Amino acid sequence: MFHFSGGELIDRLNNHLNIILSVLIVGVCYLLLGVFRRGKSGGNGIPGSLGIPFLGETFAFLAATYSTKGCYNFVNLRRLRYGKWFKTRIFGKVHVYVPSTSGAKTIFTNDFVLFNKGYVKSMADAIGRKSLLCVPHESHKRIRRLLSEPFSMNSLSNFVRMFDKMVQERLMKHEDGKSFVLLEFNMKATFDAMCDMLMSIRDPSLLQQFERHCTAISDAMLSFPVMIPGTRYYKGIKAREMLMDKFREIINRRHDDEEPPQDFLQSMLQRDSYPDNEKLDDEEIMDNLLTLIIAGQTTTAAAMMWSVKFLHDNREAQDRLREEQLSIARKKPNDYSITLEDLNTMSYAVKVVKETLRMANVLLWFPRVVADNCTIDGHEIKKGWHVNIDATCIHYDPEIYNDPLQFNPSRFDDMQRPYTYIPFGSGPRTCLGINMAKLAMLVFLHRLTIGYRWTVDDQDLSLERKSHIPRLRSGCPITLSALEDSKNTSN
Ligand code: HEM
Repeated sequence: MFHFSGGELIDRLNNHLNIILSVLIVGVCYLLLGVFRRGKSGGNGIPGSLGIPFLGETFAFLAATYSTKGCYNFVNLRRLRYGKWFKTRIFGKVHVYVPSTSGAKTIFTNDFVLFNKGYVKSMADAIGRKSLLCVPHESHKRIRRLLSEPFSMNSLSNFVRMFDKMVQERLMKHEDGKSFVLLEFNMKATFDAMCDMLMSIRDPSLLQQFERHCTAISDAMLSFPVMIPGTRYYKGIKAREMLMDKFREIINRRHDDEEPPQDFLQSMLQRDSYPDNEKLDDEEIMDNLLTLIIAGQTTTAAAMMWSVKFLHDNREAQDRLREEQLSIARKKPNDYSITLEDLNTMSYAVKVVKETLRMANVLLWFPRVVADNCTIDGHEIKKGWHVNIDATCIHYDPEIYNDPLQFNPSRFDDMQRPYTYIPFGSGPRTCLGINMAKLAMLVFLHRLTIGYRWTVDDQDLSLERKSHIPRLRSGCPITLSALEDSKNTSN
């Protein structure tokens, strides 16, 4: 038997507690070290931290997305810690960032076979289950084949003429020497041009209404899918209902129209009497009209904004571009419309567009879900993991692009090796609007450089918060000054 006084008892208890606490702390440290080590070596060879179950590194990802450094900062920080290949866990899913051209090739060439776009409920609900972005392989092949023709280079001459006129008129409105936000200008111009090309919609108040709906739908695509009033999801679904009603009205009117406009929608509707595999039903047409607008507007507008910023910061490239464009303009009559043939002669402008897209990385990475265990570049990848083709890493790889932070359009004098240049993706899911986006950028740069010089009125490089497309937070305000007699001087 042991006898202790009250004080002794408390002292002894304290000692025991200290020992237990010390053991616990050492144990927890040991466990954490184990987790960290396993994270670093990755168990299967890919380093990275999967963090705590389910949540993983979700908060770090969200923090980057909500910051003005942009969500790619999350990737940059992990690359510094783990090297080029790393894995992480976001929203309960393991993600591997694939930084190599050979990895990109493996995924692109096995798209739909071994790799699929992940199913996101909110995205399918908002954009529509018959959208190219959501349908399974067989439907995708048919819908894509039928949608492709109006987006081929040859079919886009009307679009070029219309966009050329629109850009000229709208730039002229800013000749008053007042600063305006370029991103807003580009968002409006691309939206209006797409609605004109797709459905011949030109009424300003209808365009405004459509744009509001599309923005709400786009915001809902990556939101939490609960129908609670006030949430992004709720607003997006309601906006979708209203927009689909409008689309249905337009389609019904077309059925009775004896002289319908010859636009994208009409080219789809006139297949009504074709066999099933040669036409789209009304739901497919409506979901894909929406898909085209949402996939095309923000991307193209952001790319245009970056081209102006990069050219502003690189006077030599700007002067060379202007010289090329003026030499084309001088050969034309007054009040000319630019043509597809003219655009084909713009060899330097084409390189400016390419370099802009390399540096801007409008879509930072392209996500896929792995359908079966596999290896990519010798790394074991498990069924159900997400692999993100990291276009940004490839476009900034100094082994592929010398001095990658430098805006240098002439680097594209040389041919690129396969999968080193992928701003529009590759394989069966290559961007459907690739020609339209490039042509729109060329037309815009033509009118801007032959008509104006510009200053960028805010040098802040902070990025817009919560955006998955990198865009300047300022929207890149600029002021134009008209060139005197733009067709006859090189200034
Ligand atoms: C500079 C502008 C643009 C860029 C950088 C861009 C980039 C991309 C990329 C990288 C993909 C493939 C994503 C993946 O593999 O996961 C894609 C797909 C797509 N893009 Fe674009 N895009 C642009 C403009 C446009 C325009 C103007 C349109 C339509 C008019 C458009 C419509 C689409 C569609 C429908 C898809 C899905 C294709 C499919 O899944 O089969 N894009 N885009």
